[in-house]
Amino acid sequence: MNIVLIGPRGSGKTAVGRALAARLNRPLIDTDDEVERKAGKSIRDIFEQDGEERFRGIETEVVREAARSEGAVIATGGGIVLRSENVEALRRNGFVVHLDAPPEILVRRLQEDASTRSRRPALIPGIDEIEEMRKVLEARAPLYAAARHVLLDVSCASPDEIAETIISRIKKFEPHTVSGAGASDSDG
Ligand code: S3P
Repeated sequence: MNIVLIGPRGSGKTAVGRALAARLNRPLIDTDDEVERKAGKSIRDIFEQDGEERFRGIETEVVREAARSEGAVIATGGGIVLRSENVEALRRNGFVVHLDAPPEILVRRLQEDASTRSRRPALIPGIDEIEEMRKVLEARAPLYAAARHVLLDVSCASPDEIAETIISRIKKFEPHTVSGAGASDSDG
């Protein structure tokens, strides 16, 4: 089983992924890193020079490869849920954890994150960051809900605390419960 982290920009998927991988002694696959490696350029450059669709295409190739791993921690890009084939591949042998927080907190974290410039081109050009975050969250909320096994609010916790919470939640699940079709959503 892989552990797959999904959620919006700024929800800390990469930082939590690192904490989880270190605690469990598992490899970490960061899909944004893999996309940049495959393309040989930054995500911002892919968006500007080749367009978002090209980015989504490379991202899907990366997901297919990552989903073939066994026992990896997979930190994904915020738009991974836009393609149902990504979600199907990741859920097949993955426990999917949705990290979320209110838009104001997510935007503040993005402003503090040095990787934002090279990694986070505008998704809806011409509107301010908080407005963009609200619109993106609204559009993607049902996709995240359908993709996840558990939902965690990350507003007030550190990456290490969130990693601990994820480990305790996973222990409650039998592997067959989370890997088979129709696995239950335990957040509600
Ligand atoms: C995106 C999120 C980014 C990156 C790309 C697109 C999105 O990843 O994949 O800029 O569509 O939300 P993070 O969620 O790691 O910032």
